[in-house]
Amino acid sequence: RQATTPLAQATGNACQNAKDLCASINSMEELRTAMENFDGCALKLTASHTVFGDGNPQARVVFVGEAPGADEDRIGVPFVGRSGRLLDKMLAAIGLDRTQCYICNILPWRPPGNRTPLDSEIAVCLPFLKRQLDLINPDYIFMLGGSAANALLDTPESISRLRGRWLEYVKSDGSKAMVLASFHPAYLLRTPGQKAKAWADFLRLSRQMKGEN
Ligand code: URA
Repeated sequence: RQATTPLAQATGNACQNAKDLCASINSMEELRTAMENFDGCALKLTASHTVFGDGNPQARVVFVGEAPGADEDRIGVPFVGRSGRLLDKMLAAIGLDRTQCYICNILPWRPPGNRTPLDSEIAVCLPFLKRQLDLINPDYIFMLGGSAANALLDTPESISRLRGRWLEYVKSDGSKAMVLASFHPAYLLRTPGQKAKAWADFLRLSRQMKGEN
């Protein structure tokens, strides 16, 4: 038997509860209700909304960010603040809007003060994102930022190394989605010199979706 702390045990139990709950969920509405009723993640206590997702759940492509910020927490919709406005512009530049893609986050609850999510918080919330990806069944997943990419792809590699090349995500039925990771829009707002690389990533996605690669 492995030695473990009470916190690690509680996290393990909450993860298992989330996984068990997700296994019996077969629609986006059921998933939304399950997340709204889930009490295994303390972030929910300080958040105003469970920020589920936005856009078209039948879309071929899903964009995944890290966690809601203050605006998203207030309104209950992902990427509606400054980062969201930049994301919408980048989507528009490749001919997409929110009726043609789906947008969500690794975490549905805002970490207080926008602090970096804890590994335990990510671990507990990940089964919900994975179920969401199963239900949407996208061909393409675009990860916005290093922490989102690290969490979903289960790798510690830095975003500068991960970005710009096609990776793979295996859904629970064994089917695969092609994954691109790029810089988070909030990082691009702080570091506009990196926008060219992110732009190249959006174009790479667009070309692939049009069968031009
Ligand atoms: N940043 C994110 O990662 N997600 C949001 O929804 C908003 C800002």
